Amino acid sequence: MLIRTPFPSASHEHEVTPESVYLSRRSLLAAAGGLAALSAWPSLAVESARYADVEPVQAPTWFADKLPGIRWQAVTAGEEALTPFKDATHHNNYYEFGTSKTDPARYADALVTEPWSVLIDGEVAKPGRYALEDLLKPFQLEERIYRLRCVEGWSMVIPWLGFPLADLLKRVEPTGQAKFVRFETLVDPEHMPGQRSGFSLLDWPYVEGLRLDEAMHPLAILAVGMYGRILPNQNGAPLRLVVPWKYGFKGIKSIVRISLTADQPKTTWETIAPEEYGFYASVNPQVDHPRWSQAHERRLPGGLFSPNIIPTRLFNGYDEVAGLYSNLDLRKYY
Ligand code: MTE
Repeated sequence: MLIRTPFPSASHEHEVTPESVYLSRRSLLAAAGGLAALSAWPSLAVESARYADVEPVQAPTWFADKLPGIRWQAVTAGEEALTPFKDATHHNNYYEFGTSKTDPARYADALVTEPWSVLIDGEVAKPGRYALEDLLKPFQLEERIYRLRCVEGWSMVIPWLGFPLADLLKRVEPTGQAKFVRFETLVDPEHMPGQRSGFSLLDWPYVEGLRLDEAMHPLAILAVGMYGRILPNQNGAPLRLVVPWKYGFKGIKSIVRISLTADQPKTTWETIAPEEYGFYASVNPQVDHPRWSQAHERRLPGGLFSPNIIPTRLFNGYDEVAGLYSNLDLRKYY
């Protein structure tokens, strides 16, 4: 008999949420659905009872329509505390808006996310330019509470709303030649001040990539929301990649193009400094960055006097991905 042992990251809502909270959230979301139907305005205030500190925001109908069907907390990060919304949205890396951690929150409002489309091309049977709402139509959203470990040494715990990247890839039918997935961020210097800067180290667009089997792993998701609401612009609206066992820079934001390729794509950070940032970028406390140790991380928020330093775990604690790398020397393919 085959007995399935759940991975530590797998968890069901009833295991982690008191029933009263669960039920009140359901009725709140049902009411939100009713409001959407009544409203002539194609947006709706979105809120989950769980995230009381998060301001309700207007969201387009493609997002609001999905709220009643969300699988809350399909995956959790165990007992670890969520990073407050304020920190997750005011300490960001999004170089298109500047290099300081506060630049994205300051400038990303200018990003125009509607209408939005994603070009899917390369080694697929069903290439095309898909309007975001059409692209998302087949998918239910799930809440995935994941650790996010930045290569710089800080980390957070974020409740994303998204769907498995594998589900999208299966729909566009990769050909037998497809071995990698390449992602591209929007280029829009008019609204992205970092792209206008003459001092930027980065070439635009920001590019990231995964091996196809990594991209098909159930933990890899495309996120459209966080903290029960639509994704804030500074966090990569309207569509970003989340691969929790890899350093944060793999989580490319505001995706406009997904290409299936036969060859390993040239990615942004690897191109700039190949000896510092590899293509794989799996979180690994034993493989130091040439300029700093990766053995520990600073879990945000933390202050000068309580820096909240914790040990870093291999694959960021997501042991279930280890099989993807069983034939790979992780020191060489960092
Ligand atoms: N995507 C784009 N397009 N541009 C960026 O500068 N920064 C990356 C990643 N995705 C970045 C990006 C880095 S270095 C990190 S750590 C994460 O986004 C940070 O995500 P967060 O700001 O939502 O915490």
